Amino acid sequence: MAALRITVIGTGYLGATHAAAMAELGFEVLGLDVVPEKIALLERGETPMYEPGLDELLRRHVPGFEGSSGRLRFTTDWAEVGAFGDVHFLCVNTPQKHGEYACDMSYVDSAVASLAPHLTRPALIVGKSTVPVGSADRLAAYLAAHAPAGEDAELAWNPEFLREGFAVEDTLHPDRIVVGVRSERAERTLRQVYATPVAEGSPFVVTDFPTAELVKTSANSFLATKISFINAMAEVCEAAGGDVAKLAEAIGYDDRIGRKFLRAGIGFGGGCLPKDIRAFMARAGELGADQALTFLREIDSINMRQRGQMVELARQALGGGPFLGRRVAVLGATFKPDSDDVRDSPALNVAGQIHLQGGQVTVYDPKGMDNARRVFPTLGYAPTALDAVRGADVVLHLTEWREFRELDPAALGEVAKARVILDGRNALDPELWRKAGWTYRAMGRPTA
Ligand code: UGA
Repeated sequence: MAALRITVIGTGYLGATHAAAMAELGFEVLGLDVVPEKIALLERGETPMYEPGLDELLRRHVPGFEGSSGRLRFTTDWAEVGAFGDVHFLCVNTPQKHGEYACDMSYVDSAVASLAPHLTRPALIVGKSTVPVGSADRLAAYLAAHAPAGEDAELAWNPEFLREGFAVEDTLHPDRIVVGVRSERAERTLRQVYATPVAEGSPFVVTDFPTAELVKTSANSFLATKISFINAMAEVCEAAGGDVAKLAEAIGYDDRIGRKFLRAGIGFGGGCLPKDIRAFMARAGELGADQALTFLREIDSINMRQRGQMVELARQALGGGPFLGRRVAVLGATFKPDSDDVRDSPALNVAGQIHLQGGQVTVYDPKGMDNARRVFPTLGYAPTALDAVRGADVVLHLTEWREFRELDPAALGEVAKARVILDGRNALDPELWRKAGWTYRAMGRPTA
């Protein structure tokens, strides 16, 4: 059988990584985006976001770089995509609708509408975006009605589970591959696409459309639930004088529970978990199953409460009065380390709340400064952690970058006005900071 030719529609986080990974697996790949500036950047072997290893992977395959395979090209032309691809991966964004819980499907719908008239020969269209259950059924009907190839243009659903900061690793070595298919032909094609990771041990799970869509939203809901569970335990520990970090360690040794995703702190953010649990609730409501997911409302509200609690902890650390005129150093702006993504970032939210209450906030983040400035231009920004801490009445550690764990508390103590650090991620070593004369405080842990 001739080698499959692959297109990737949408070159954001998911698409850029998927396209580069497909080229790495040996396929000829054509990536499409409707934004010409993005294409120009990718053709220079660069991405608009910070993701470890991604630029290097692109340069291994985009033409023009030394030793490049030349297998990865980009275009803005739908006709070229239609003519080129045997398999078309849909990787466009599905954000939360403005002012609503529901998911905004307009990018997916418009990508399918743009592609359909160019599907003149047999092809498999594979959805990867996170969508409300039922979308694949609807899109399959649309394709059947609009693709010139008719039944030969078939749909499949193949959700993506990559994490920001580990996108390359997760795409090349996925911990599972889930495919929702309606025919053996579609399954065969996807087995061919993923032959390498499957040979290396990734489980390959074949389902129907709704199950494939639900695997994705339920996985993210479960992760969100774990985080809010441990944050709820942190609140109880706080009230009872317990230590949530020890509690998490101890319950985590039970492998039915597991140790991962039990780090208490200011909660989850980013472009996925918050909007996915809300879209899931909205969709369940449409299906008449809203009661099944009411617990997610609580997961969401525990999560949002964490941010407010951090603000209160900062207020207490400053003596309980107003923030007006007080200097607050914030270490971290991104929603997680090893990413420059500030979408729905708990760190930036806490910094913003304190700033809006009159605090003089200075933020430092290793990679997220440009994005943070764009979203919140009125906050103060410093070029280094040391500069952010200079003159501070209190220091807030809000994103657990390795750089912050490696800081020298003694050096920071020299420049801070008061040696008080609040660890919003339970990620610093309390003893290290206390030994250097700092008051260390974290949510759900004893004060000393
Ligand atoms: C998440 C999922 O983990 C991926 O599997 C999924 O593919 C992706 O969403 C998606 O739907 O595209 P990601 O948004 O990159 O990935 O981030 P996570 O690593 O899940 O972290 C989410 C948030 O939870 C971060 O703000 C992190 O700081 C927070 N978190 C994580 C905690 O507060 N405590 C923890 O123990 C773990």
